[in-house]
Amino acid sequence: MNRNVIVTGGAGYIGSHICVALIQSGYTPVIIDDLSNAFPETIGMIEQITSSKPLPFYQIDVCNRDEVAKIFDAYQPVAVIHLAAKKAVEDSVKNPLSYYEENLDGLFSILNVMKDKSVTKFVFSSSATVYAPDAHGYYKEDAPLAPINPYGHGKLFSEQILRDVEFSGDLNAAILRYFNPVGAHESGLIGENPKGRPNNLMPILGQVVAGKLEKLVVYGQDYDTPDGTAVRDFIHVMDVAEAHVVALERLLSLDHGFLLNIGTGKGLSVVALIKSYETANSVQISFEYGPRRAGDAAHVCANVELAEQFLGWSAKRDVSQMCRDHHRWISSRKS
Ligand SMILES: NC(=O)c1ccc[n+]([C@@H]2O[C@H](COP(=O)([O-])OP(=O)(O)OC[C@H]3O[C@@H](n4cnc5c(N)ncnc54)[C@H](O)[C@@H]3O)[C@@H](O)[C@H]2O)c1
Repeated sequence: MNRNVIVTGGAGYIGSHICVALIQSGYTPVIIDDLSNAFPETIGMIEQITSSKPLPFYQIDVCNRDEVAKIFDAYQPVAVIHLAAKKAVEDSVKNPLSYYEENLDGLFSILNVMKDKSVTKFVFSSSATVYAPDAHGYYKEDAPLAPINPYGHGKLFSEQILRDVEFSGDLNAAILRYFNPVGAHESGLIGENPKGRPNNLMPILGQVVAGKLEKLVVYGQDYDTPDGTAVRDFIHVMDVAEAHVVALERLLSLDHGFLLNIGTGKGLSVVALIKSYETANSVQISFEYGPRRAGDAAHVCANVELAEQFLGWSAKRDVSQMCRDHHRWISSRKS
C-alpha cells in the first residue's frame, strides 16, 4: 500500500519530529516547506536520525496551488498533515491582515488541491489558544472557545472551515489542539530553531543557556498559582509527533474526523520548569520577573481523557527528559 503522507511545514519544529515518527512507523513524509522559518539542513538530520534514503522535499509556498497539485500527482498521498503556518502571536496582533491572509490561504490551497485529487484524510495543527481563558483551566474539548488574539482566531476559523468542508462530504479532518510542545529529539539533531528573535519560553531559555542572552524574563509573578507564575501543560515534542501517527492511523480507519487535545494533562509553572531545567542539566539560568503580558492566562492545561480513550495514546516523556533533550540540542549547536 502507498504510505506517502504530505507534511506541510515538515522542516519546522514540530513537523520535523513528525517526519521522524512517520518514517519510524513505515510512512514516507513528502515535505512541503518554504523555509520561511526553518533551515534546509533539517531535512538531512531527519534522514540521519531515521537512516532513510533522500526524503522528498519541496521548497515551495503551500499557497502555490499549481505546484502543490504537481506534488500530489507525483506521490498520490494517502493523507495530509498540515502544519505550515505563521505562529508568532505578537506578530499576529501587529499584522493581523497578513497573518490571516497567509495562514488561511495556505489552508484553502491545500484543501482545494485535496478536493481536486480526491484525498480526504487531513490532520490539522490547532492550538490551546482557541479556548476561553479560565483561571484554573484543565480544558476539555467542549470547553468555551474565545481566542484573544488573531493567531488563536485564525486557528478557530480554520477549525470551522474544516468542519464545514467535512459536512459537505469531501473531508475527514483530525483536529489536534496542541498545548505547549517543548524539548527536542533525543539525538540532539533536530529541535526548535526559529529564524529571527524567538518568542517562546524554551527558545529564549536556550539563548540564555547558550550565553547569547543575559537573562530570561518571567512575565508575571502574581498569578493565582502555587508560585505566582503562569502554569502551562508542557509536552515533549516527540510525544506530540507520536500522537500524530496514532491519530493518522485512526483517521485512515474511520469515515469521519475528530478533535482532540494533545497535552500531558499536568501543569507546571514557568519557574518550576526553569528549576527542573537547572536540575536536569546542572546549569544555572539567570532570570528576572517582568510584568504580566497582555493576553497571558494564569493556567492553561489540557484535559487529555478523550485522547487517551479515543486514540489509546498518552504522553510518555517527563519534564526532566524534555529539559535534557532540549539541552542536548542547544549544546550540539554551540559546538
Ligand atoms: N509550537 C507551538 O507551541 C505550537 C502550539 C500549537 C500549535 N502550533 C502549530 O503547529 C504548527 C507548527 O508549529 P511549529 O512550532 O513547528 O512552527 P515552525 O515555524 O517551526 O514550523 C512551521 C513551518 O512551516 C513553514 N511554513 C510557514 N509558512 C509556510 C508556507 N506558506 N508554505 C510552506 N511552508 C510554510 C515554516 O518554514 C516552518 O518550517 C503551526 O501551524 C503552529 O501554529 C504550534
